[in-house]
Amino acid sequence: MILYCTILLNIFSVIRSEYNYDQQGADWTGTCRYGRNQSPIDLTQKHATMKHLPRIEFEKYDLALRTPLLLVNNGHTAHMELPPVGHIKGGMLRGKFVPQSVHFHWGSLISKGSEHAINNERYDAEIHIIHKNSRYWDKSVGEASQLPNGIAVLAVMIKSVLREEESELNKVFEALPQIIPYKSNTTIYGRLTMKQLLGNIDTGKFYTYKGSLTTPDCTELVTWTVFKEVVSIRLSLIANFWSLTNSHGQPLINNYRELQDIHRRKVYYRSCDVLKKLLDWW
Ligand SMILES: *[C@@H]1O[C@H](CO)[C@@H](O)[C@H](O)[C@H]1NC(C)=O
Ligand SMILES: [Zn+2]
Repeated sequence: MILYCTILLNIFSVIRSEYNYDQQGADWTGTCRYGRNQSPIDLTQKHATMKHLPRIEFEKYDLALRTPLLLVNNGHTAHMELPPVGHIKGGMLRGKFVPQSVHFHWGSLISKGSEHAINNERYDAEIHIIHKNSRYWDKSVGEASQLPNGIAVLAVMIKSVLREEESELNKVFEALPQIIPYKSNTTIYGRLTMKQLLGNIDTGKFYTYKGSLTTPDCTELVTWTVFKEVVSIRLSLIANFWSLTNSHGQPLINNYRELQDIHRRKVYYRSCDVLKKLLDWW
């Protein structure tokens, strides 16, 4: 009977909206448990293959996003749908990918909450911008995630700093106190571009690999691009994340998944154009 109940509970817990971060995903089932191409992973320079990949090209990422932008506490993260304007290509991406949404992962007062690690180092928080292959324009993100080459995610690490830090991204963090209850939402006004959502970082250096969504059902076939440059955000703004609450009215903290085994995958690291420029010149 107890076993039966455990199995039943497990089945219920994989239903998308019911997952939680009590064990940082160690209790998730299905592909999350048995997949061999799971995310996040530790991205180490030592294990990464240097590759002469093209830069990521950002089309229309300097345009102001159509407002109002709606920031929602969905019980797992702070989530914002994005107007599907412009696209990215280049890097290890095969095709053009159109922005769909942005969300965040964070820790708590005493723990860091990035999902990926870079050279064994975790960061305070992580930005994920979900993109969908333009060839699946008539499919939802959920449907596209089941199709080959359907989803690409751009990830940026956030580190906290004590000093005042100018960043347009602050607009998002400043709005967090308005979405403390589960399912609440608020509107972000003012000028904000996709570039600014990426923290205005230098996008020339990045790790890229084939992985998965980091939430159930952990669908694989996701192309990850994780930028090396880290964005600095004032600690008091990052702290705004920690006051959000989940569907049980408890603090929504540590909403990151534990690191996954890399198995036989290759991670590529792209650093600069210098060699290519040299070769061209030669
Ligand atoms: C935003 O919140 C308001 C007030 O709670 C609610 O009426 C509205 O449906 C929400 N909008 C969305 C898109 O969730
Ligand atoms: Zn994410």
